[in-house]
Amino acid sequence: MSDKSQVVVVGVGASRGLGAALARRFAREGHPVVLAGRTATRLEEIAAEVRAIGPAATVVPTDVTNDEQVSNLFETADENGPIDAVLHNVGNNAIIPFADLTAKKFELFWRIGCLGAFHVAKQAVPRMLARGHGSLMFTGASASLRGKPAFAHFAAAKAGLRNLAQSLAREYGPQGVHVAHVIVDGVINGEAVRNILPEYVDRLGEEGTLDPDAIAETYLAIHQQPRSAWTHETEVRPFKESW
Ligand SMILES: NC(=O)c1ccc[n+]([C@@H]2O[C@H](COP(=O)([O-])OP(=O)(O)OC[C@H]3O[C@@H](n4cnc5c(N)ncnc54)[C@H](OP(=O)(O)O)[C@@H]3O)[C@@H](O)[C@H]2O)c1
Repeated sequence: MSDKSQVVVVGVGASRGLGAALARRFAREGHPVVLAGRTATRLEEIAAEVRAIGPAATVVPTDVTNDEQVSNLFETADENGPIDAVLHNVGNNAIIPFADLTAKKFELFWRIGCLGAFHVAKQAVPRMLARGHGSLMFTGASASLRGKPAFAHFAAAKAGLRNLAQSLAREYGPQGVHVAHVIVDGVINGEAVRNILPEYVDRLGEEGTLDPDAIAETYLAIHQQPRSAWTHETEVRPFKESW
């Protein structure tokens, strides 16, 4: 049995997606993994992948917009032991021209993309402070840094998430909590985009998209950094990306 502590991955969906890739990568390092997302059947599939690698996997269906469900997620993880890292990967996206963007949709994107991260941080930070260490990482996007037409809802949520991460890093870094924000600047070659724009992903090809398993290497490297040289923010993009 591994003596490594748990990693909680929040925002796990398809096997070919970043959340699942993070779970597998940390599992290969020997970490037991707690998997959270809204769809139990998909979480069970990824749990089977983690167990096939070796470490234990715990499935906790969770909607991050609901603070009670997020509390339950962390209380369930506590039953297994301490937490080394929390990877907040939740995100959704859609092309919505501003004329079609209702207040309800705008708020929903913020609830999923930003408020949910607040709920997760509220649970993760005290646990990490109590141990004097831990990594809390958030997944950003190109929209974390700038808004584009038809993406006001997404850009506002991701920019808020970025500043939440920055504030937490400055407040809790000196107490040993490593808060990081990873900007994914390009299209992930996974189910999320493939489901809505398959021809776009095919046109970009493997060299023009980010492989989720390759992105996961960056999260692991940040988690393993010695604390005399921490990264707070980094970007990953395909080598062919124009930026
Ligand atoms: N895909 C891209 O091209 C791209 C590009 C740049 C940045 N990103 C960022 O990368 C991250 C995700 O990567 P991905 O596209 O590969 O997707 P993914 O990691 O496969 O999946 C993220 C999962 O989050 C879950 N989720 C959504 N809303 C949730 C909620 N309210 N509570 C809990 N879980 C929730 C969804 O599963 P359920 O629906 O089953 O809950 C979804 O499958 C996001 O932060 C996204 O903004 C993606």
